Amino acid sequence: MRPGLRARLVLALFATAATTLAVAALALLPPLEARLRDDAARTLTLRAEAASQGFERLKPHQSPNRLLRALARATGAQIILIDTSGVRGETDPDVRGSLADARRALTTRRSERDVRKGLAQAAIPIRFEGKPAALALRRHLGDVGRTYSVVADAFAGAALAGLALALIGGFALSGRMLRRLRGLSNAMLAADPILAPAEVDTGRDELGELARAFAGLQQRLAQQEDARRMFVATASHELRTPLASLQTLLELTVDEPDPERMRQDVQEALAQAKRLSGLSKGLLDLSRLDAGIELRSEPVELGELSRAVAAEFGSERPTWVPPHEACWALGDPEGVARIVRLLVDNALRYAPAPAPVEVRTAAVKGHVELRVLDGGAGIPDTEREAIFQRFQRGENTTAPGFGLGLAIGAELARRMRGELKLEPGAPGGDEPAGARFVLILPHA
Ligand SMILES: Nc1ncnc2c1ncn2[C@@H]1O[C@H](COP(=O)(O)OP(=O)(O)O)[C@@H](O)[C@H]1O
Ligand SMILES: [Mg+2]
Repeated sequence: MRPGLRARLVLALFATAATTLAVAALALLPPLEARLRDDAARTLTLRAEAASQGFERLKPHQSPNRLLRALARATGAQIILIDTSGVRGETDPDVRGSLADARRALTTRRSERDVRKGLAQAAIPIRFEGKPAALALRRHLGDVGRTYSVVADAFAGAALAGLALALIGGFALSGRMLRRLRGLSNAMLAADPILAPAEVDTGRDELGELARAFAGLQQRLAQQEDARRMFVATASHELRTPLASLQTLLELTVDEPDPERMRQDVQEALAQAKRLSGLSKGLLDLSRLDAGIELRSEPVELGELSRAVAAEFGSERPTWVPPHEACWALGDPEGVARIVRLLVDNALRYAPAPAPVEVRTAAVKGHVELRVLDGGAGIPDTEREAIFQRFQRGENTTAPGFGLGLAIGAELARRMRGELKLEPGAPGGDEPAGARFVLILPHA
């Protein structure tokens, strides 16, 4: 198994911190040490140069020892004075070491400095008793080492703190993240995914976004599930009533002695059966649409199609108004015919004769539209949205029906990348001013 998210996160943070610190240490510490050593030697040279005038000013009989000791005190170094005749004075006769640099300075008249094996050395040319001489200074680098180790220790301490912080931070951060992730997956694994989670992650980062997206999805699923339950409940209810009255009618018919009454009952029963079959056809259509049946997508000439459908209803109503031009839409011919049929059927029923019912088609910028207009009472503003929903019927509608027609039409239109809606705005000058439905489809 691969290491978990937490281990990887902590490791990554730790590795980043460690690398950064290592690079910083390499870039900082060795140059610092070199710099400190060089400074120690240079300081010796500068001090010696400052003191050189004192030696030059000494009277011939005066001993240089006082000056040598003063310089030694000021620099903390061992001082040796040489001239061509040899060593003329020194502050620590027990140790002398090599005087090569002082001799070079004596002959070349150039100062020298060097740091070697923990010892800073400097040699400068001076004049002593009117003749060329040289001063040699030697100093152990004890305090340079101390300065360096103070810095190095501080750095090591800071590095340790940084690494510890990276570890703790990594653990804390990943712990919080993991808790949130776990919360999310628990919500997903919850026994009933339809139940929206009690609390949603409110973080303003990607995790929070994911959690909210998921909660949104759950909510939509819950809504869909609700709608489905409602649909099944309403459908069963709608089926029950006509079935019950059908049953009653048939029971009456069986015992009906009067043939005329019996004929009436049978006719009534027949009407109920027709309604029932209409309802079941509507339910079947909706369930097919819900199941996502494939609709065709092909060029359909709306003018010709609407003329044919209008003709099915007889010669009186509706009036098919010939379009100015061919209206080629992209869609499913069966589906379009179905929509026209249910619109015309509604218009004929809800706008009783002699109100006009018209079917018009037109190509309008980028799309084509088919309109079914009637001269009836129209749709109240409060119902303009509702009538497109399943089982929703107008408040004052008394004609038999189940409120499925427009829902089916709207869904069919949507599936053809089109739209079925009530036409907004005022009716055209020569057009009926009742209900005005428009089916909009993409241009072929
Ligand atoms: N042409 C129309 N004129 C007035 N009202 C209409 C018209 N078409 C539809 N409606 C209203 O919209 C409602 C829903 O229509 P529909 O979905 O076809 O169901 P149904 O016809 O079974 O009632 C109708 O009950 C009616 O109130
Ligand atoms: Mg209808």
